[in-house]
Amino acid sequence: MIIDGKKVAFSLLEEIKEKIDKLNKKPGLAVILANDDASSKVYVASKEKHSIALGLKSSVYRFDKSITQGKLISLIHELNENPDINGILVQLPLFEHLDEREILEIINPKKDVDGFHPVNIGRLYSGLKPYAVCCTPKGIIKLLKAYNIEIEGKNALVIGRSNIVGKPVASLLTNENATVTLAHSKTKKLKDYTKKADIIVSATGHPKLITADMVKKGAVVIDVGITRQFDGRLIGDVDFEKVKDVASYITPVPGGVGPMTIACLMENTYELYMLQNKRQN
Ligand code: GUN
Repeated sequence: MIIDGKKVAFSLLEEIKEKIDKLNKKPGLAVILANDDASSKVYVASKEKHSIALGLKSSVYRFDKSITQGKLISLIHELNENPDINGILVQLPLFEHLDEREILEIINPKKDVDGFHPVNIGRLYSGLKPYAVCCTPKGIIKLLKAYNIEIEGKNALVIGRSNIVGKPVASLLTNENATVTLAHSKTKKLKDYTKKADIIVSATGHPKLITADMVKKGAVVIDVGITRQFDGRLIGDVDFEKVKDVASYITPVPGGVGPMTIACLMENTYELYMLQNKRQN
């Protein structure tokens, strides 16, 4: 069965819009783009479009290479203090001359809509509720739940150890009581692990890394990879056409995890607004 991320994301967006419509003030999301990367520009434009469609106040700050670490730090301090801004997102990667860790760490954890601040990561790892949970990992768990896919007691294999997807999704799956293995580029004999997995989450950006012979019959395959081909088409990490005949559930690329990331970002913005305005609502 093909998991329809667009459909699940659409109903989540509808739910959030209904909640936002009831508020007397618009939640505000600030997005900072400080790199030249073509995909990042597309992602940021999409975040802006969805924010507006949902009735959020969207502020996008686009910078060229002349932006300094100091100027970016001052902007984040301003946004931290601005009561109209509830969520702050710094699109990654940043220009090479900028220090990503320092930038992420000065965001107020209660405005850290991406859940990348060490406080939020730490809360996630220790089983406490983060102020916001990283959007793609959160979207993956929501997709599994939307299709009533059992996680507890299952062998889950996460491939890719990024801070954005691999590590947090491994943590979320652990919190859901899966037995989690985290594989990465240095893992030897990947197939030995994929063959044993009930749930595979692949987030590497290597097209066709996961072939049909690597997947156990009936496994659930979640493809987080996005690679743009020469012809402009997007493809994932999984050999979709062949793996779909072995898997019980599989996400397509595009139209699988991607739409959930955006929907969870919108949900996180709403939730941070509620957290920051507890007494007024
Ligand atoms: N770059 C790739 N994915 C993401 C994401 O989810 N959030 C941010 N801020 N940057 C990204």
